[in-house]
Amino acid sequence: MKIDFILNGNAVSIESTYTRRLLDVIREDFDLTGTKEGCAEGECGACLVFMDDLLVNSCMVPMANAVGKSVVTIESFAQTEAYKSIENAFMSSGAVQCGYCTPGMVMAVYELFKKYDAPTLQQVKEGLSGNLCRCTGYQMIFEAVAMLVKEGYRYD
Ligand code: FES
Ligand code: FES
Repeated sequence: MKIDFILNGNAVSIESTYTRRLLDVIREDFDLTGTKEGCAEGECGACLVFMDDLLVNSCMVPMANAVGKSVVTIESFAQTEAYKSIENAFMSSGAVQCGYCTPGMVMAVYELFKKYDAPTLQQVKEGLSGNLCRCTGYQMIFEAVAMLVKEGYRYD
């Protein structure tokens, strides 16, 4: 069947079943491979996208739930000033190693600052608890967020 939604600001229309995963549509139909598949069960955050401004695990979203929604992937988010600030902090802190978790982690950090102006370490740990990283041991990611706090980064 025909499914219409907005992808990175553009109205798109695809042929798909309602049960197909948003993650697969993004990666296979649109070749937007910055959205990763990790656990495929809503636990790792590698597949995060914004859907109507809410952060969702796209591996858990059937296309039935994406009809008419506005979906933003890392490819579009990477064009924003917010992304550049977060990326800079990640690079400076050594928070990117294999990079597999990074797109989802960056989006989760953005979301964290939506909730808190200056998140504490505990708030950072809780806020990023849905994102798994096999490489960094998390410390460098926490340091990247601390750097953003120190620089006075604010959600906008
Ligand atoms: S792949 Fe979706 S949460 Fe892990
Ligand atoms: S940098 Fe490799 S999984 Fe996080």
